[in-house]
Amino acid sequence: MSILEVKKIRKTYQSRFGGNRVEALRDVTFSVEPGEYVAIMGESGSGKTTLLNILAALDQPTGGEVVLDGIPLNSVSDAELAKFRRENLGFVFQEYNLLDTLNLRDNILLPLVLDGQEVSTLKEKLEEVVSVIGIQDLMLKYPFEVSGESIRKGKPF
Ligand SMILES: Nc1ncnc2c1ncn2[C@@H]1O[C@H](COP(=O)(O)OP(=O)(O)O)[C@@H](O)[C@H]1O
Ligand SMILES: [Mg+2]
Repeated sequence: MSILEVKKIRKTYQSRFGGNRVEALRDVTFSVEPGEYVAIMGESGSGKTTLLNILAALDQPTGGEVVLDGIPLNSVSDAELAKFRRENLGFVFQEYNLLDTLNLRDNILLPLVLDGQEVSTLKEKLEEVVSVIGIQDLMLKYPFEVSGESIRKGKPF
């Protein structure tokens, strides 16, 4: 079974006063199999951000359907959506969207805390993530201290 099915999705942006309409997506259909890597390419303004926002359930299509791991996204209520996203989706934004005032450890823990997980589970999951990525020494640093900029300039963290 496909992990993601995108069926004829459309997105039309309309200004609040009924003026300019922009058809950002028109009948986009594709599917992704488990383990498959997919890149979406296109010139600026071609609808990549619109598509990804819809796939991440941050925005809704004007028409069509997105089915993620067998669950039609439009069947998930607004109230359940934040939890659904935390449990099923990962999204790395161009601007990262880490919280500047939390160190890396707390940035990693935040979604688990919001989920009401036990302290023992928090510790277990934190250790797992940290060892997979190999960032043990960075846990108490803040995002600005480990930015891509420092890495590119070849500075130590
Ligand atoms: N919130 C919005 N309101 C109105 N038009 C928008 C909005 N977001 C994007 N658009 C328009 O939708 C089209 C696709 O934009 P976008 O998805 O950002 O493309 P890309 O990420 O490929 O550059 C563009 O014409 C853009 O101007
Ligand atoms: Mg974009």
